[in-house]
Amino acid sequence: MCTKSMLDRTKQPKLTLVGAGPGDEELITLKGVKALQQANVVLYDALVNRALLKHAPEHCVKVYVGKRAGKHSFTQTEINQLIVEYAFLLGDVVRLKGGDPFVFGRGAEEIEHAQSHGIATQVVPGISSAIAVPALQNIPLTKRGITRSFWVITATTCCGGLSQDLLLAAQSKATIVVLMGMRKLQQITQLFRKYRGNGEAIAIIQNGTRHNEQIATGTIANIESLAKKQAMGTPAIIVIGQVVKENLAGVQKEIMTRQLFNANVHKIKTIH
Ligand SMILES: C[S@@+](CC[C@H](N)C(=O)[O-])C[C@H]1O[C@@H](n2cnc3c(N)ncnc32)[C@H](O)[C@@H]1O
Repeated sequence: MCTKSMLDRTKQPKLTLVGAGPGDEELITLKGVKALQQANVVLYDALVNRALLKHAPEHCVKVYVGKRAGKHSFTQTEINQLIVEYAFLLGDVVRLKGGDPFVFGRGAEEIEHAQSHGIATQVVPGISSAIAVPALQNIPLTKRGITRSFWVITATTCCGGLSQDLLLAAQSKATIVVLMGMRKLQQITQLFRKYRGNGEAIAIIQNGTRHNEQIATGTIANIESLAKKQAMGTPAIIVIGQVVKENLAGVQKEIMTRQLFNANVHKIKTIH
């Protein structure tokens, strides 16, 4: 809560939308850290790594406004109002959002609302989970000779139904990255079974880039049972396409490189 003593009318109201990255606290940009260091208020989301708050000054007001499915602490309208109130009271407001603020982050709505109240705005992009989470699992979203494009899709529309874009995506040859898809896993596998067959490769990565990250890789035919067996939950992304096989290839390459390295170390020792 803001108190009157916190009021600083010399400050210009400003909103900076900052992408916090996918979870690992080192995967924020330098510009994002600098914005936090200047902040008088930080409004942060559920998927933001709280360790990032250490970059904000001690006097900074830090407010959790996270929304997780089924558990809303603030509605979007309330968040928009808070941004405006805090910006006029305290000046520099940082809105810290998981991943990139413009990838299923409702960042545009917050910017538009602030601007409609005459508040200056800035955007600091973040590393989206859609790209970083597969990358850390050695899954390239595009690879020469395998796939020429990737689609990032939310499984759930604002009305709760399955996104029709998924229907189009399943008919393409692209790598498909599905966000917010775990509750629709059965429907997703049904759709991809129809258009790409049971053998299509698929991975689910939960808590990507965090210490508790876990992955399930398989095919459309067995992913549901694997996810159940491994108790996969949210937040998770689903990656569908042949590039998923690179994950296993990567693990094998790592083992071979390690074996080669050990063999070379052994040779060097023998020479000496
Ligand atoms: C509301 S969207 C926000 C996406 C975010 N703006 C981004 O660019 O990463 C939240 C969804 O992103 C995905 N997600 C975000 N962080 C994740 C992580 N560390 N591991 C796996 N999935 C993640 C999940 O599908 C989650 O339900």
